[in-house]
Parts: sequence; structure tokens; C-alpha cells
Amino acid sequence: MELVSMPGQKAKGKVWLVGAGPGDVELLTLKAYRILKSADAVLYDALVSQDILDLIPHSAEKIAVGKRAGKHSAAQDDINQLLVTKAYTRKNVVRLKGGDPFIFGRGGEELQTLVASGIAFEVVPGITAASGTSAYAGIPLTHRDYAQGVTFITGHCQLASRPMDWQGYANPNNTLVVYMGILNANIISEGLIGAGRSADTPVAIVSKATTSAQQRFFGTLGELAQLAADPALQMPALMIIGEVVELADSLHWFEPNTDKHTSDLEAAAKAL
Ligand SMILES: C[S@@+](CC[C@H](N)C(=O)[O-])C[C@H]1O[C@@H](n2cnc3c(N)ncnc32)[C@H](O)[C@@H]1O
Repeated sequence: MELVSMPGQKAKGKVWLVGAGPGDVELLTLKAYRILKSADAVLYDALVSQDILDLIPHSAEKIAVGKRAGKHSAAQDDINQLLVTKAYTRKNVVRLKGGDPFIFGRGGEELQTLVASGIAFEVVPGITAASGTSAYAGIPLTHRDYAQGVTFITGHCQLASRPMDWQGYANPNNTLVVYMGILNANIISEGLIGAGRSADTPVAIVSKATTSAQQRFFGTLGELAQLAADPALQMPALMIIGEVVELADSLHWFEPNTDKHTSDLEAAAKAL
């Protein structure tokens, strides 16, 4: 890792690594809200929802450093460097990330750079996409009758060449949540079925979870690639694989595209 420092100078500020949750502005923690309102500079990812970006004070510098599959974005080293640089000139630097910064969010890597550069920091956890999706799609990730455990994995990029523990993930008493797996849906379904998980295992793909544009797609593990190729599917999307998906019909409560979730906080955001 490249060590970034500014000889002869002392950092003026502190970096707050903040989780923004999966989308619904009301899923932001009170602490995240408070920190955001006192930010002097905010470096934010592509996954942070507009409702949350609208909460950033006008006086704060806003820097988009988002990463999206297949789209140009700032390299991780540049983001690390920028965080350090901003901490030298600003008091409250917020690094705002979708979901939770420590779940597939590279939050640890960014903090390691801050440590190496002697910059003070604090971490504010966020609701990870799995929890938000589970709640808003009506799919409990564990349930005594269906799944005794849950595993979060990334289905990103070089899945075919990486050693994947398909045998471990194929446990029928376990729910598997796959982040960033849409482009590798066929590899995931073949890996799991090859390791013994039934092709009839229910699966859900949930896109834009917790937002008014949320969509749920249901099928079986054998149909996963077909589901993932649905032209109506928008990013970001998460896969939930396991018997708990059967509960989605009866436990469904969230109606996207309604005003049901308009809150005081959203109203405040719009008034800013
Ligand atoms: C780089 S990971 C970041 C995860 C984030 N740190 C978290 O804790 O949720 C991005 C992936 O999270 C999932 N994701 C994030 N927000 C989502 C949402 N609102 N609906 C569905 N999936 C989401 C998608 O799989 C997406 O590709």
C-alpha cells in the first residue's frame, strides 16, 4: 500500500467513514445524519441515494468517487490519497458509502491508508444491502423452519478463476446472499447445483431495494441466469438463495412507488 503523508504539516481534520444504508433515506442512522450535517467535504460512492446526497449541506464540498461495474471511476489508490489530502485542509471529512462500509465496501482498505498517514478517523456503520433487501422484500434471512444460518458472498468479476467454496455455500439449511453477482449468475447457479444444492431451491433477485423503484424477481436456482438476464432488472441488485425466499409472498409489506415512506426527514432534505 502506498503511504501518503505531507511532510512538515499536521492534518487539520478527521475522516468519518459513514455507511449510508441501502437507499431509503430513513435507514440512515441518527449518527450518520448528524455527521453528514456537519461535513466540510463529502466523498461519496455511486450507490449513495440522491435523497441522502440531498442532506449534505450546500457549504460542503461534494466529490463523487463512485465505482460502478464497467463504468469509469476513481481508482482506489486515488480515493485513498484524496481522503488524506482532504483531511489536511478540512475539519470534517465524510467518506460516505452505500450500505455498511465494512461489508464489501473497501472501508478497511481506506482506513489502513489513514492509519499509515496518521489521520484520525471514526466509523459509523450502516444498514447493509442484505438487511435492507431482506426487510423490504419480505424475506427473513434466517427462520427456524427454513435456514439456521446466512452467508454473504461477493459474486464479483473473476469468479470462475477464484477458489469458491461451493460445497460450503450449497448447505440447504443456509441462506446465501450474493452481492454483485448478476453478471456471474450462471457461474453461481452451476457452482451451487454442482455442489449438490437442488436446482429447485427458490431464489430472489431484488433490485434497488428499499427505494421506490424496488423490484423483486423470483424463480429457482436452475433459472438464476435467466432471471438475472431479465431486461427489466436494474442495478444495483442482490440475490437471495434459499428456502426462506418462499416466505416472500406472505411477508411482503413494502409497496414501491407509493408515498407511504415520505417522512419528515425526506421533507427536510427537500427543503434544504
Ligand atoms: C460494492 S457492494 C457495496 C455493499 C455495501 N457496502 C453494503 O453494505 O450494502 C455493491 C453491491 O451491493 C448490493 N446493493 C447495494 N445496494 C443495493 C440495493 N439498494 N438493492 C440491491 N442491492 C444492493 C448490490 O449487489 C451491489 O452490486
